Amino acid sequence: MTLARRGFLKLFGSSIGIIAAETLSSAHAQRKANSKVSPIARKILVAHRGASAYAPEHTLESYSLAIKQGADFVEQDLQITKDGVLVCLHDLTLERTTNVKEVFPTRFREEKDASNSVIRRWDVSDFTLHEIKQLDAGSWFDPKFKGARVPTFQEAIDLVRGKAGLYPETKAPEVYGGRGFDMERLVLDALKKNRLDKPSHAARHTPVIIQSFSPESLRKLSATLKTKVPLVLLVGEENRARWLTKEGLMEAKQFSIGVAPAKALLNKDLVMQAHALGLSVTPYTFRSRNTGRFKTVREEMSYYLYGLGVDALFTDNPDLFPRAPTND
Ligand code: G3P
Ligand code: CA
Repeated sequence: MTLARRGFLKLFGSSIGIIAAETLSSAHAQRKANSKVSPIARKILVAHRGASAYAPEHTLESYSLAIKQGADFVEQDLQITKDGVLVCLHDLTLERTTNVKEVFPTRFREEKDASNSVIRRWDVSDFTLHEIKQLDAGSWFDPKFKGARVPTFQEAIDLVRGKAGLYPETKAPEVYGGRGFDMERLVLDALKKNRLDKPSHAARHTPVIIQSFSPESLRKLSATLKTKVPLVLLVGEENRARWLTKEGLMEAKQFSIGVAPAKALLNKDLVMQAHALGLSVTPYTFRSRNTGRFKTVREEMSYYLYGLGVDALFTDNPDLFPRAPTND
């Protein structure tokens, strides 16, 4: 483990006891003159679905590579199997990133899409963990990853703990609620079982932040389930008007330590407004295959981190994360 890495883990476990909230909320940390948090807040690298530019998203291969490439946190999007197990997968369905159509060709549901065409979907919650473990989650990305599996959240914890932080997202919790599952309780139970649900010795070395597009999910985690795990609200185009205003940010502050907007929604004023309220800002998603007006993703990330002053970001390319300002 490098010195910088140890420093990061120590920072997250500093004796003030507030693990990620203080580190991520740089403006807040800087205002606290007596804080033991470094006034030079470290920018935080969240590996989006692992090192997903180089390995199939949400596989242990992708998570391992993200850690090797220096990720501070590794992200897990969470879904729930038919037998109630949390697994790491972005989509509600299996067909984009596994060979489910070949292995279980008849096990689809049919639905109508927006244009009234019938589509077939293989929902995660229609398959047991045993069945999902039979699927190849690597070949779709590159034949060399043939045999990679969909990991459980527990397998992700086992791999990442002590080496980086965990950044689980409650995906479509309302859909799972309608199918009789309680995603928030499952996540907190898993964290508790691993002693990662509060600032304890174990948690010091494995900070956890829970993210969601669903404010209801975060309110439930905060107000009903009374978790001490820091929460971050994801904001997309569809809900920007609700949250990316002074009033919206003040409301978000009631249940979260920060906001994570789509990068296109951000500007410097917004970052400053959030910081003034003590909220961290963590835009998504930075990837080498889509850099907009920037020549490279490294340059793009540098602009957001050191130009706009965001605290952290999600990237598919952890190896290109600039630890200092750069123009390359
Ligand atoms: O969670 C940050 C980012 O991952 C949100 O978008 O669709 O990739 O989960 P998505
Ligand atoms: Ca996500």
